[in-house]
Amino acid sequence: MERADSIKLDSFELSIGDIADADLDALHALSMSVGWPHRAEDWQLARELGHGIVARDAIGRVLGSAMWFDHAPDFTTFGLVITLPRLQMLGAGTWLMNHLLAQTGSRAIGLNATRSARRLYKSLGFAPERTVYQCQGDAIATPQGTLPSGAALRSLTRDDLDEIAALDRAAYRADRTSVLARLVELSKGMALVRGDRIAAYSLCRRFGRGHLIGPVVAASDDDAIAVTRPHVADHAGAFLRIDTRQKSGSFAEFVAQCGLPVYDTVTSMSLRRPWLIDDAGGEKPIIYGLASHALG
Ligand SMILES: CC(C)(COP(=O)(O)OP(=O)(O)OC[C@H]1O[C@@H](n2cnc3c(N)ncnc32)[C@H](O)[C@@H]1OP(=O)(O)O)[C@@H](O)C(=O)NCCC(=O)NCCS
Repeated sequence: MERADSIKLDSFELSIGDIADADLDALHALSMSVGWPHRAEDWQLARELGHGIVARDAIGRVLGSAMWFDHAPDFTTFGLVITLPRLQMLGAGTWLMNHLLAQTGSRAIGLNATRSARRLYKSLGFAPERTVYQCQGDAIATPQGTLPSGAALRSLTRDDLDEIAALDRAAYRADRTSVLARLVELSKGMALVRGDRIAAYSLCRRFGRGHLIGPVVAASDDDAIAVTRPHVADHAGAFLRIDTRQKSGSFAEFVAQCGLPVYDTVTSMSLRRPWLIDDAGGEKPIIYGLASHALG
């Protein structure tokens, strides 16, 4: 009997399931299949903070995922949109995204698009806004600089949650109190204090291959550096990551000096209304470090 050397097998039949019911190891295997560093614990945290769907094949295997994270009644972020490499370019990504769009109704949406996803999101109406620089490497402690004048640095405690959530809200333009409450539990945090008010804060937690610094919120490069530096010192010699939209200026230079060069970029995109404020030259707090690509 004649046997062909190749066979076309692209007739996958997929169905949608709730990500809450998916096996963590299957989600971990999915993100590893596209080279992402997430640990099972990182998936677990994402599930605690958001909602999502998985694509399953006829025998229940997880072949795709997509999540959303509500930050306000009218604003959500999308993330962890993945299809298994052997399934890509067949329409599964678009199918998952259309499900997310249906689930999230008329809410404004922000997301951080990888290069391979940018065209897909553009075709769904998302507009590109800013570049995010994923900076990572083996951290190098930099000499302790002088603190910005009139400022003191201290560790964050859980009692600071309301105050950092208010500062964060001014920068992020949506209330992330519940997300921050969970991140504060998992992170070491620093606060820059002026008088009796927190003027800048940063968190640092385990993520992927090492630790991730974020969010970092401050109103100036100097303040952002002051709250970031202690985390770099803590992890000197180990893998560290920070995602920032600062392309140039002293914060970007500081990150590079810490042994964290730009490894990759993603594009912040929005649907229905612009996501990011113009942060040029103001004295308002801005996001110097993202909590993650998915959370913004
Ligand atoms: C980004 C990702 C989710 C897209 O998933 P996908 O299943 O390939 O998505 P689709 O097949 O729906 O669409 C991808 C492209 O294939 C095209 N396409 C869809 N069906 C097709 C078909 N039958 N034949 C040829 N092309 C097709 C789409 O038009 C789209 O093209 P475009 O880039 O010009 O818009 C997937 O590539 C992935 O998991 N990448 C790695 C992880 C990642 O970067 N995720 C994004 C996080 S923001």
